[in-house]
Amino acid sequence: MPPRPSLLLVLFLLIILSMPTLNCSLQGPAQGPVTGPVPTSNSHSNSHSNSHSNARQVALKILSTSSSTSTKSSSLISSLQSPSDRNLCTNLVQTANRREGQIDDIIQRHAKKRPKKVVLAALKLGIVQMKFLDTPPHAAIYETLEALKTFPSVSKPQVSFVNAVLRSASNSTSPLSPSTSNLSPHISSTLSSDWGSSVMSEVAEVYSLHDGGVTLSCTDVDVVGEMFRTHNVTNEVSPLGSVGVKNPGSIKKLHGFDEGLWWVQDSSASLPAILLKNSIERIKKEGETVRVVDVCSAPGGKAMQMGSWGWEVEGVELKEKRAKRMRENIERTRLQNKVTVTVADAKTFQPSLPPLGFLLDAPCTATGTGRKNVDVMRRSEAEGKKMEEELVNTTVGIWENAKHWGSKVCVFSVCSLSVREGESQVDTFLRMGGVEIDRIMPEEVPGFEGSIDEQGRLRIFPSDRGDGFFITRFIFV
Ligand SMILES: C[S@@+](CC[C@H](N)C(=O)[O-])C[C@H]1O[C@@H](n2cnc3c(N)ncnc32)[C@H](O)[C@@H]1O
Repeated sequence: MPPRPSLLLVLFLLIILSMPTLNCSLQGPAQGPVTGPVPTSNSHSNSHSNSHSNARQVALKILSTSSSTSTKSSSLISSLQSPSDRNLCTNLVQTANRREGQIDDIIQRHAKKRPKKVVLAALKLGIVQMKFLDTPPHAAIYETLEALKTFPSVSKPQVSFVNAVLRSASNSTSPLSPSTSNLSPHISSTLSSDWGSSVMSEVAEVYSLHDGGVTLSCTDVDVVGEMFRTHNVTNEVSPLGSVGVKNPGSIKKLHGFDEGLWWVQDSSASLPAILLKNSIERIKKEGETVRVVDVCSAPGGKAMQMGSWGWEVEGVELKEKRAKRMRENIERTRLQNKVTVTVADAKTFQPSLPPLGFLLDAPCTATGTGRKNVDVMRRSEAEGKKMEEELVNTTVGIWENAKHWGSKVCVFSVCSLSVREGESQVDTFLRMGGVEIDRIMPEEVPGFEGSIDEQGRLRIFPSDRGDGFFITRFIFV
């Protein structure tokens, strides 16, 4: 006798209730409320995908194999034909990397086991779209599965698993974990102990966003402004003369690159040279040629800035490879008559003539550059501490050498948020003698007036604008 309809209903409800809607497993078929397009084959065809399917496939490939900063991933992104595909792919990869902590938390809540490689990457790709890029969940899941199916090594159960986990995550109303979970424990604890937990949270928030824009320093800002206007490149000129471009696409294809009219440099990174210029202008004699040493010079952003003012700049760089890149930059910007690079250790380098001033943009842990360099968000304690120790010692050695060159003024800067690499180094230099702080005045730093500390030094956080920097100007006494 066939079972009665009411018995069937009870049975059906029991099955539904016993299904784990959370914590999907990679073993066996997908669990959970699977509706909509269920992948049925490992087909390489993509007849239903939208015009951005290539962008998602490339993003998936990058996320499953390498970090967003590698050359390989850049060339994969460049292989995409349309600018909008390249932008989408960059946004997907960058957001997945920047939000890694928050995404991992979602995966942990919805998958019993953490999968590997491309399956893990597909989960990240789907979650990025649903939770951070406002893609409607059904579209995010469908597009992710379509991209996943183009990988020949992926099995049906793996596709079903991704489908189930993404559906489970899309149904969840749990709040996201805070963006501080995207910082490594080492970075969050050093930021908190140096600056307090609210600064640490602000930095985490800024570093978790992919902004995609770029800031340029120009040989002549008016010429660049006019050129961008002619070519309809949306841009914004800062009070310091830096030019912000929101969606530059490929840097090498942006107008003015080949002509060397600009180079990529954050507006806070342009401040050390500007501050040196202000003090040099106070002390230089009428008609005197300004000669400066740019210590730790590559890739040459600050050297080119100073060269574009007509100064004679001697760059000193330890690494041949970086010096080579700097030479290319100098040639592109047609500044080879003004800027030279010597490959040498600045701890022992001696300039041929005493420079009127020098700029020491010291090697550092670069924790202020997390907007561009996602790796700094992840640094482990062992790596971070070792790096800091070595670089602090190198910088003291360079200072000890450079202070005897006979300069009258100098600027010290680091793109680090660490007190040890910034404020404490200045204390060390003052103890070593021969210099006094030349206070930075608000009118010299439009847009950054609030970043001057009580000793007249600049401490810029990434949440202020651009890269985090610490800058102090000295006068020799
Ligand atoms: C923060 S980067 C400089 C950025 C550069 N000032 C600019 O504006 O483009 C620090 C540079 O110092 C170099 N460096 C590290 N130790 C050095 C040393 N002992 N002597 C000279 N250069 C050194 C590194 O190779 C690196 O290129």
